[in-house]
Amino acid sequence: MSEYPYVEVVEYPKAIRLIDSGWNDAEPVYCVRGDFSGGMYKPIGANQMIANELYGAINANRDFFRPWLPWVDSVKSPADEMPIVESLADRTTCKYYLRLNGWLTGVVGVVREDKTTGTMEIGYWHDPRYNGHGVMTWAVGKAEMLCFLYGDAKKVEIRCATENKRSRRIPERLGYRQECILPAAEKMPSGVVHDIVVYSKTLSEWLERPTGLQNVHWIWPPKSYLYQWEKYHKLKSEWEKGKQK
Ligand SMILES: CC(C)(COP(=O)(O)OP(=O)(O)OC[C@H]1O[C@@H](n2cnc3c(N)ncnc32)[C@H](O)[C@@H]1OP(=O)(O)O)[C@@H](O)C(=O)NCCC(=O)NCCS
Repeated sequence: MSEYPYVEVVEYPKAIRLIDSGWNDAEPVYCVRGDFSGGMYKPIGANQMIANELYGAINANRDFFRPWLPWVDSVKSPADEMPIVESLADRTTCKYYLRLNGWLTGVVGVVREDKTTGTMEIGYWHDPRYNGHGVMTWAVGKAEMLCFLYGDAKKVEIRCATENKRSRRIPERLGYRQECILPAAEKMPSGVVHDIVVYSKTLSEWLERPTGLQNVHWIWPPKSYLYQWEKYHKLKSEWEKGKQK
């Protein structure tokens, strides 16, 4: 498996300013489109500032997250976020934090991996003050591209509580198939037990309609950009040859 990039395709010219802006904790990976300037990042090392910011974003929105994220009440101080920061910083994990207009606003990435089947599950949370602009849909699209091209995933899954309508719209908008509903599959700290809907997208489905590769204007380092396109075309031609057999 290749390492996941620190600095990658940047999709919006605003990002060029962002690279010069002097944040020393991380480098941008992807810049988001639209009204925000920002992107997906990996912190460098065990960064206390990122732990403080993650804690701040979670603590300010506990009531919003609690119904859907079972771990929220276990985050009691910035120190509880240090293991997460370390796993975000690890270049062998497909895990990124989001920064918009300077603020750390969420996390996206692989939360479970089954190496025997090549299945990766993507999870995410996003500060509600920044919800409803398509940012997380965009970030999940990027994350799935990273899973297929850097993580050699054969299938990406997204699991949501059936009642979590806002979260369900993300895989639905990105063209995932609803695979099944697992009855009474996850218990929240409140005692509520949710049915879980499993969405999935296979490598061949992604090759037919790839997300995350479009609208590339600028890139650093260039090698990663070439890597993505070469790998995409290699996988696509292997898949097409397989179909003809
Ligand atoms: C679910 C969650 C991540 C959504 O975050 P978000 O930033 O609002 O996600 P998006 O902005 O991508 O959602 C798309 C919304 O933006 C709007 N939007 C605006 N421009 C858009 C664009 N260019 N592309 C896609 N959507 C766009 C869509 O209409 C959509 O609104 P809708 O949900 O009312 O239909 C966030 O609410 C959250 O963290 N919830 C709690 C934790 C959670 O549930 N995590 C997931 C567990 S499975």
